[in-house]
Amino acid sequence: DVRKPLVAGNWKMNGSIALLNEFSGYFADKREFDCERVICPPSVFISTANTLMKPLGFAVAGQDVSALDEGAHTGDLSATMMAEAGCQYTIVGHSERRTDHNESNQLIADKAKALLAAGVIPISCVGEPLEVREQGQEQAFVADQLSALFSTVDLNELAQVVIAYEPIWAIGTGVTASPEQAQDMHAFIRSAIAAISADAAARIRLLYGGSVKPSNAEELFSQTDIDGGLIGGASLKPEDFAAICQAAK
Ligand code: G3H
Repeated sequence: DVRKPLVAGNWKMNGSIALLNEFSGYFADKREFDCERVICPPSVFISTANTLMKPLGFAVAGQDVSALDEGAHTGDLSATMMAEAGCQYTIVGHSERRTDHNESNQLIADKAKALLAAGVIPISCVGEPLEVREQGQEQAFVADQLSALFSTVDLNELAQVVIAYEPIWAIGTGVTASPEQAQDMHAFIRSAIAAISADAAARIRLLYGGSVKPSNAEELFSQTDIDGGLIGGASLKPEDFAAICQAAK
């Protein structure tokens, strides 16, 4: 398969050094997975996550980045800092950042571009709110979210980007998209990429996120255009996260 499955655990503003220690203890004797595994802790724990989790086969990722290179931007972190801190990936455009920090599609695309320039792979998130799905407008909504990314990232770098589809109504609610709903949107996203580059469409990895749990992961990940998952709540429990990683092959 040209697309190696990927499962990323987004800890959001949760977790601690104690939880990282619990993870490293739990995964110490569990290394047989067919997917790439990524842990996205709060930034202040990236260094600890590198020490504890990289030797166990995990990549480490940030949850956000600035689109700017450097300067007087108190509290922000640049893409080169994420690279220097050892992040192989970094999430951009999570719906919680779009809401909490009013992030625009163009800002998110600029963040993705800055990461690529620094050698960090962006995990770029899209997904519609419930009212948009109820109106049947979810594909148009997601297409609009993606258009800034497509026009900002260099075409020859597009295949490296990871896109995570997270319907907002499924995040943290316990209500997951059905495998058919998720597959339909993933197929739509892949076809939108194919319209730009058939090669990028074949190689780009598309993750599903939103109430993924051990009980539904396998069915979601077995869909043709779903290449893994972006996991929130269930990524905070080592046994659940391990079961979800096991489901990606
Ligand atoms: O980034 C992860 C998603 O927002 C999914 O969160 O698995 O808790 O629904 P959840």
